[in-house]
Amino acid sequence: MSVLVTGGAGYIGSHAVQRLLAEGHDVVVVDNLFRGHLAAIDRLRQRAKGGDRLGFERLDIGQTDAIEAIIRERRIETIMHFAAWTYVGESVEKPVDYYTNNTAGSLSLIRACERSWSHSHGGVKRFVFSSTAATYGEPPAEHVPIRENCPQHPINPYGASKLMVERMLIDAVSAAARHGRNFGAACLRYFNVAGADRTGLIGEDHDPETHLIPIAIQAALGKRPGLTIFGDDYPTPDGTCIRDYVHVEDLADAHVTVMQKMRARETVAYNLGIGRGYSVREVASAVERVTGKPIPITIGKRRAGDPPALFADPAKIRRELGWNAGWTDLDRIIATAWDWMRHNPDGYKS
Ligand SMILES: NC(=O)c1ccc[n+]([C@@H]2O[C@H](COP(=O)([O-])OP(=O)(O)OC[C@H]3O[C@@H](n4cnc5c(N)ncnc54)[C@H](O)[C@@H]3O)[C@@H](O)[C@H]2O)c1
Repeated sequence: MSVLVTGGAGYIGSHAVQRLLAEGHDVVVVDNLFRGHLAAIDRLRQRAKGGDRLGFERLDIGQTDAIEAIIRERRIETIMHFAAWTYVGESVEKPVDYYTNNTAGSLSLIRACERSWSHSHGGVKRFVFSSTAATYGEPPAEHVPIRENCPQHPINPYGASKLMVERMLIDAVSAAARHGRNFGAACLRYFNVAGADRTGLIGEDHDPETHLIPIAIQAALGKRPGLTIFGDDYPTPDGTCIRDYVHVEDLADAHVTVMQKMRARETVAYNLGIGRGYSVREVASAVERVTGKPIPITIGKRRAGDPPALFADPAKIRRELGWNAGWTDLDRIIATAWDWMRHNPDGYKS
């Protein structure tokens, strides 16, 4: 199958590309490299047997005409849409930029799909969208573990910019179905994505880094003075927030499973998590165990909009598509991030 992967030079997108190539698919990555790494694409090309099956176009997803041309030339049938800006705090500071990049950018892609239906190969049939647990906002405790039918009330522009895309896809898919088009969409709501490719070829390289596990590893490596825990007075067993950490390889696997099994003419949503949570203190202790190094910890104030516990109920995707997270042991998940970070201390610049 020919798959267009937006944001394929980024953290999660590059792992999906690796998986797609391993499964024999042809891939073209569209990334403007605002926060992605060309080195990730180079590494994937060098390693993959089918390196020539990986194309790369430095483009913004807002360039509808250019995207439509790629769909036509490469006979694209599936779009996996990872490209987005992803920082909650930045989204509060620059909401209009987030709606422009994430929401209007996605609209441009959907427009390109719509135009592609008149192409000789029939155009795009499947759209797999990287949504987020941030679309749920701060769900009341009775909704945790979170199911897909939990009310979605995002509390920041990042989450809202993603929820709007879900809504656009629902409407685009139903209108396409009324016109007899075989177009379907899947909204995959990720929880906290963690870890790295087990062979150490690619991994997480964000600047700035905002995710707990790489920050804790940087502290263990002495690259930052320590780890600040934002609040230890939450109503959880050790007082720190509980989150669901899903391994990036499992996420890549979920994308391929969804692509193969999703149905035309409907929009589905699935939560992608392991179905249990780990507290910030548990993560810090696990990083100390895996790295063998102590992490200096400071307790800071609670951050606004941090609910005590957020973890997925992944039963729907298990039941409907047979997908299950394979990596559920926190130490093993962290070990892959640790391997990547100690062998690539400066990320892709290493
Ligand atoms: N990392 C997580 O824990 C997490 C959790 C929930 C959802 N998500 C979603 O998963 C997706 C991927 O996240 P990530 O952590 O890999 O982020 P990332 O920043 O590593 O990757 C995003 C990629 O998209 C590219 N990009 C951004 N805007 C673009 C545009 N307008 N045109 C072309 N390329 C553009 C960037 O250059 C980058 O390579 C995002 O949509 C994010 O919202 C991530």
